[in-house]
Amino acid sequence: TMLIFNTIDKIRDHLKHTTQTGKTVALVPTMGALHNGHMRLVKEAVKQADHVVASIFVNPTQFNNAADLEKYPRTVDADLKLLESHGCHAVFAPSEQEVYPEKPSISIRFGSLESELEGKFRPGHFSGVGLVVSKLLNIVNPDFAFFGQKDLQQFFVIKALVEQLNFKTQLRMVPIERETSGLAMSSRNMRLSEADRAEASLIHKALTQSKNRLLRGDSVQSVKNQVTELFKSSDRFTLEYFEVIDTSDFKPLESINYKENTALCIAAEIGQVRLIDNLMLIS
Ligand code: PAJ
Repeated sequence: TMLIFNTIDKIRDHLKHTTQTGKTVALVPTMGALHNGHMRLVKEAVKQADHVVASIFVNPTQFNNAADLEKYPRTVDADLKLLESHGCHAVFAPSEQEVYPEKPSISIRFGSLESELEGKFRPGHFSGVGLVVSKLLNIVNPDFAFFGQKDLQQFFVIKALVEQLNFKTQLRMVPIERETSGLAMSSRNMRLSEADRAEASLIHKALTQSKNRLLRGDSVQSVKNQVTELFKSSDRFTLEYFEVIDTSDFKPLESINYKENTALCIAAEIGQVRLIDNLMLIS
């Protein structure tokens, strides 16, 4: 049966015994409210490592405002059941006091990675992510850590963190799990009304249409204009950004070079729910 740890000392002690037997360890960091997107990470982790640890911690330092933190769904009992049924071995679910006994005085910055796209709309967000992921990697010291492509910019922020601070952990990026409508699974989707959820498939439609047009040779500007128009014609949606970027710095591209690291990234708000999604140009 799955073991649950609430303190740093206890999970460290448990992992000491686990790694002494030569087992490899994988970490799947989450904020709970788990769904099939998260389970895709767990499934991959179970395949690649002997011992899978999921963390559940709604990290206050990555929220831009108190209301957003307050609104974040918490479904711990269902989360634990879901994790156990997917073969997760252990869960680290610390309290806020355990992770932040006092207000942290340090902060990690990510240069252009945090001033573009998500960084622009959520100031301080990636510093908070960097801080908590550093803590989790130090506490669990995993061989592998799994993150979703759903949060593409987050993945590259964490990649910079791991490379530049010499964490031993190997990162794995897992593809986006979607509803049949194309809507990327997200804990925020449960806050969508029936009508908004139906309309929300527009995001994935815009991405696939744009990818096809770019691959046919249409210009970035004309594709961006079309997406802007598409969202203007929806009375439910507000488009925050749609950009074609290079994942090395997340700076918008004005023309594309058909390289592996080109991605289409979008954020839009519907019924006060902020949704993000992306596609790699070539995959
Ligand atoms: P959270 O939003 O709970 O997401 C946990 C992980 O699940 C992230 O790596 C995210 O990219 C992945 N994920 C979410 N929806 C997905 C989907 N539809 N398909 C594939 N993967 C998906 O991201 C965070 O938590 C936090 O920022 C965290 C990294 C835990 C730090 O606090």
